[in-house]
Amino acid sequence: MLEVDSLYVAYGPVTALRGVSIKVEKGSFVGVVGPNGAGKSTLLNTIAGVVKPKSGSVTLAGSKLSGARAEHIVGKHLSLVPEGRRIFGQMTVLENLQLGTTVRKDREQARTHITEMMEVFPILGRFRDRRAGHLSGGEQQQLAIARALLARPEYLLLDEPSAGLAPVIVDSVFEVLKRLHNEGVSILLVEQVAHRTVETADHSYVLQHGNIVARGTASELLQGGLLEAAYLGADGAAPEPEGAGQA
Ligand SMILES: Nc1ncnc2c1ncn2[C@@H]1O[C@H](COP(=O)(O)OP(=O)(O)OP(=O)(O)O)[C@@H](O)[C@H]1O
Ligand SMILES: [Mg+2]
Repeated sequence: MLEVDSLYVAYGPVTALRGVSIKVEKGSFVGVVGPNGAGKSTLLNTIAGVVKPKSGSVTLAGSKLSGARAEHIVGKHLSLVPEGRRIFGQMTVLENLQLGTTVRKDREQARTHITEMMEVFPILGRFRDRRAGHLSGGEQQQLAIARALLARPEYLLLDEPSAGLAPVIVDSVFEVLKRLHNEGVSILLVEQVAHRTVETADHSYVLQHGNIVARGTASELLQGGLLEAAYLGADGAAPEPEGAGQA
């Protein structure tokens, strides 16, 4: 289990997380939704060790994810798809995908999974020999997601993977996440697209101004109006309907 306990994080005078606690049971699909600036990226980046908390802890299967061995644990068990796209522009699409599998021992299956990713995201197959830096923004994002999925980590952390993608590609992203979940990967998905995320996840948390203000299953959050309340309370904007505004 991945456990975040009472996390406080600040950037100078700006407090981004005010005592956030969440749990991701092994094999579960957990969502974190919240409006702009709620602290979603800060939460993922702190779990991945990119940002250091003021207080609180992150533990994975009982081991603290801070200190000397953190990088080793994170590299071995966790994979983060950060906000925005991180690809190697000078390398080809195929080389980027192969990089994603270097941590794996099952070389044969890894090759099969690369082929699978090119089916899920057809553009990656079509442009496999093209330099990644020459792809469009949305194409690079698909490549970044595919590469992270190919690492087949125990825990996959994703920061708004659907942002800026066309609706049909967003569908592919959610489909492939469901597939990985079924294959046993534990998923922590952070999104602004609230409805779809809580409906896909087993359990979700609503983050607002650095606090968890609601948690539950899709029906608990949707029937109780908790989702709307959190977004309205934050900045007056309602949660986005499925696929809206994702040109
Ligand atoms: N490097 C930074 N320096 C200073 N303040 C920061 C920094 N990064 C984030 N913040 C602030 O911390 C708060 C939380 O930001 P964070 O990026 O975690 O939110 P978010 O929920 O991911 O937002 P978005 O949906 O826009 O990605 C915001 O008030 C933000 O302005
Ligand atoms: Mg963010």
